[in-house]
Amino acid sequence: MTDSPMTRDKETLERRLITVASGKGGVGKTWLSCTLSHALATAGKNILLFDGDLGLANVDIQLGLMPDRDLGQFITGEMSLRDIACRYEDQGGTHFDVLPGKSGSGALGSLTKETLVKIRTGLTAMASRYDHVLLDLAAGIDPSVTTLSKHKGKVLVVMTADPTSLTDAYAFIKITAMRNPGADLSIVVNNVASKREGEKAYEAIKRACEGFLKISPPLAGIIKNDAKVVDAIRAQVPLLARHPQSEAASDIKALAAVVAGR
Ligand SMILES: Nc1ncnc2c1ncn2[C@@H]1O[C@H](COP(=O)(O)OP(=O)(O)OP(=O)(O)O)[C@@H](O)[C@H]1O
Ligand SMILES: [Mg+2]
Repeated sequence: MTDSPMTRDKETLERRLITVASGKGGVGKTWLSCTLSHALATAGKNILLFDGDLGLANVDIQLGLMPDRDLGQFITGEMSLRDIACRYEDQGGTHFDVLPGKSGSGALGSLTKETLVKIRTGLTAMASRYDHVLLDLAAGIDPSVTTLSKHKGKVLVVMTADPTSLTDAYAFIKITAMRNPGADLSIVVNNVASKREGEKAYEAIKRACEGFLKISPPLAGIIKNDAKVVDAIRAQVPLLARHPQSEAASDIKALAAVVAGR
């Protein structure tokens, strides 16, 4: 059976989605989503960043934005996704668009499957105007995470060298591979002391995936632990604007090249 043109269009747009997920909380998903968006924008890409941590959204906080609209207005039907988009722009004029979540209210923490699919469909439609649409997801493997990562685009699984992060990343990969066979999964090891430590952590998750799931997600990048990351988050300024020469900045630029090219 051949695909209809509509199915093909949907697939083409879905391939522009890049989900950032992890299983374990606090491994750097939000920081990575913001910084990767900025790096891709710096490389000339047209980027939309969606804050998909629906219960505890904080992309806007890391970017120092104060949006007056958020996903809440889309959920109630008052506004379209396009209407709630705002813009991050650095001092050099590099910019990308942001769809803010609903910070701190917790009100969006338990949306119905139907609403989650509506958000995913809306993001796929928005992808027609962008090179990439990044989705910063919540920790865990609840329905918001599994529904928003069920697409044909990339799924970046962020982990650290911590064994609990490896276990949770594996759980996320297992669920995703079951619910979304053929998912374009790859691994980012963040917050490591050295490249070697990152490579060892990647080898461990790769072995588990190959042994038990018969899949072999590639390594997308290794990001070093860098005090400049913490400083940039505290200052609510993206790392590439505040510390463009830092180690973590160059690691993120390398990741951006892989993500944009693959
Ligand atoms: N490469 C790094 N170097 C140094 N610190 C880092 C690095 N990456 C992340 N961190 C630290 O980890 C903290 C958590 O990051 P972040 O909020 O992005 O995690 P998260 O995975 O989005 O968390 P949550 O699961 O709660 O959404 C940051 O505030 C920062 O202190
Ligand atoms: Mg987060």
